[in-house]
Amino acid sequence: MPRTGRSIPLRPWALLIALGGAVLLARTALPESSPDSSFCPPPSPMADGGSPEALAAWSADVPASTDLYCINLIAIPELLEAAGTVELRRPPGPFDISVGTDGTPRFRLVFQLRGLPDPSRLGPYSTYVAWLTTPVLTPMVRLGEVANGEFEIGVADFNKFLILVSAEPSGGGAERKGRIVLRGSSPSSRMRDHDVMALPLSAFTPPPSDTAEQRVPVGPDVWTMPPVHPRVAMLPGLDWLRPDANPYLPEVPAGAKIPFARPRQLATLRDGDTLRLEAGHVRRTIHGRTFTMYGFNEQYPGPLIHVPQDAEIIVQFTNNLDLPTSVHWHGIRLDNRFDGVPGVTQEPVEPGGRFTYVIRFPDAGLYWYHPHHREDIQQDLGLYGNMFVRPTDPSYFGPANREEFLMLDDLLIGKAGLVPYGAETPTHAVMGRFGNVMLVNGEPDYRITARTGDVVRLLLTNVSNTRTFNLSLPGTRMKLVGSDLGLYEREMWVDHVVIAPAERYVVDVRFETDGPLPLLNRVQGIDHVFGYFFPEEDTLAVIDVRPERAEPDHAAAFETLRLHADVVEEIGAYAAEFDRPVDHELVLHMQVDSLPFVVDRVMRLDSAYFPPVEWSGTMPMMNWATTGRNVQWILRDSDTGLENRDIEWWFEVGDVVKLRLVNTRAAFHAMQHPIHIHGQRFLVLSVNGVPNENLVWKDTMLLPVGSSSEILLELSNPGDWMLHCHIAEHLAVGMAMVFRVDPNERMPN
Ligand code: C2O
Ligand code: CU
Repeated sequence: MPRTGRSIPLRPWALLIALGGAVLLARTALPESSPDSSFCPPPSPMADGGSPEALAAWSADVPASTDLYCINLIAIPELLEAAGTVELRRPPGPFDISVGTDGTPRFRLVFQLRGLPDPSRLGPYSTYVAWLTTPVLTPMVRLGEVANGEFEIGVADFNKFLILVSAEPSGGGAERKGRIVLRGSSPSSRMRDHDVMALPLSAFTPPPSDTAEQRVPVGPDVWTMPPVHPRVAMLPGLDWLRPDANPYLPEVPAGAKIPFARPRQLATLRDGDTLRLEAGHVRRTIHGRTFTMYGFNEQYPGPLIHVPQDAEIIVQFTNNLDLPTSVHWHGIRLDNRFDGVPGVTQEPVEPGGRFTYVIRFPDAGLYWYHPHHREDIQQDLGLYGNMFVRPTDPSYFGPANREEFLMLDDLLIGKAGLVPYGAETPTHAVMGRFGNVMLVNGEPDYRITARTGDVVRLLLTNVSNTRTFNLSLPGTRMKLVGSDLGLYEREMWVDHVVIAPAERYVVDVRFETDGPLPLLNRVQGIDHVFGYFFPEEDTLAVIDVRPERAEPDHAAAFETLRLHADVVEEIGAYAAEFDRPVDHELVLHMQVDSLPFVVDRVMRLDSAYFPPVEWSGTMPMMNWATTGRNVQWILRDSDTGLENRDIEWWFEVGDVVKLRLVNTRAAFHAMQHPIHIHGQRFLVLSVNGVPNENLVWKDTMLLPVGSSSEILLELSNPGDWMLHCHIAEHLAVGMAMVFRVDPNERMPN
């Protein structure tokens, strides 16, 4: 029967896919953002049935991905001339993403309103008032009076929310009584309950093995499924899904005796000392089950190396693994040839092989070491250790009763044991391998003891493959002191710490009352199929605060927030470069190819919205089944169009360059990326155009989804250096480049 002019009702998911597709198309162009253009894209002409030409013209003007940080306000029909936008602006803060202690995103609300008539035209009203509420309309938070023009009022801290503007009688009470004139919903509201069952049934059945669509893994099928997420139902009928690779778990030569690993030991080294470091197989018992894993010197984590600032040490490394490897000294501005990057600064160290590293430590603070070959396997199985470079200046840190070095990790354990890794290419290529067991210093039930009133310095390193943590100690203030390469300009109080893979933070805490105190990770998980957020909370460690009193008591010093004039001065020397034009821009992107149909479809359901940070692995099967054979993560140089290892950047020692990193949401599954630069240090000047007010030297920054950031990179160290995403799987499937820094004859080195 021929169709008449009536429109066919679309299923909501189909509409979302269509919209997502349109948005996807719309976002691929990257126009230069002009300084005076509004951050928010104008409303899409699609909203009022605009033509394809109108849509194309509109999308050409939209800055990359800002739709994730904007709300278009829609007016009631009588007020056709009224319109507005609300920019979701990042509140300034020490972390690259602003969230609450429970992981809910926080945004300053910047209204741009126009065309509002005198309110008396609408009834007995004299003013307009803006409101913030949730999709169920409670609570209703009065933000304040607004009018035509720009107003910044209030902070949104709900996962999904609505913005309303109403006309109200004089003064406008605490409750909304007047007439709603404008309304809009948060970008997160686009995430909906999807009718997955509307997918063709064939999506849920394995393709016949003679089609190329899903290559069946070669070799014996001994994959163990990843465990389901405890809060998220798994789609039925997907048991046949497999990663397109052979499973790998460490292989131990027959008859070899594998030692049980012991907790890490302190290795205090002086200038000129030598450390023997050996990577080998160990047994470890986690939650009562014993696994064959990896360890440095039969320890978990690897030895805790303490060195004085400016020391030089020798590390004689031996590889007793069944895989090639290398050791990278993360964050250290060392000699390039000892940077430990196979194929760039050295050949991989083959099983049975050795390599001697000579490492100098110019910067005080907290660093770590890990392999730089298949980190998704080797680091995950336990090859990581901290280095603490003791500052020359005795007053560098404030006084503390003790120091605790905490390496934060997670491990993926299924019913049958560790979930195998991909032998030829990593599994979990889309989101990275989220573990289901949280580990601190390799232990699932880590405990620390302290006395009441103790000031304890926590030196935190995130060594997980992909998980970003949001750490807090309930009821306890933390004093944020330092990060990757040293101290903040100013110490500040925080009630939580967001730490992405490879980042470090140093916080001082003081325990005022006795009793057990949990170190929590609190985040917002997402059920992508049903489109809702849910809180997740894990206890990473417990601090047993004993009734004995601290001795000495550093209470007074702890109360003081220090200003580090030397850091302010050192960073201030670069202030003239802060506003220079951007020298290079990298767009962070991905490409997918021959994904299993159902994975492709289900993951596309969400293209209308991506959260700033994917905190948790709530699609364990879908994510697991993706490998480097279906997924490539990309750094694209905007000037040349070159990607990843084809990019050629050439600098000289003494250069200072401004880089813009753009995390486009046009990716098939957009995600945050912790971007790491080897052998140098940088300042994060701004995220989404909001300047940072308290700077610290970094080697890793977290770029949230749909965001852009400007960083100032100081080139102080000659050689060939990597810039890459520190999500182990993203790095392994391409997201890396190498730049060259030439020595500068005119400058002393
Ligand atoms: Cu910690 Cu190239 O990395
Ligand atoms: Cu990444």
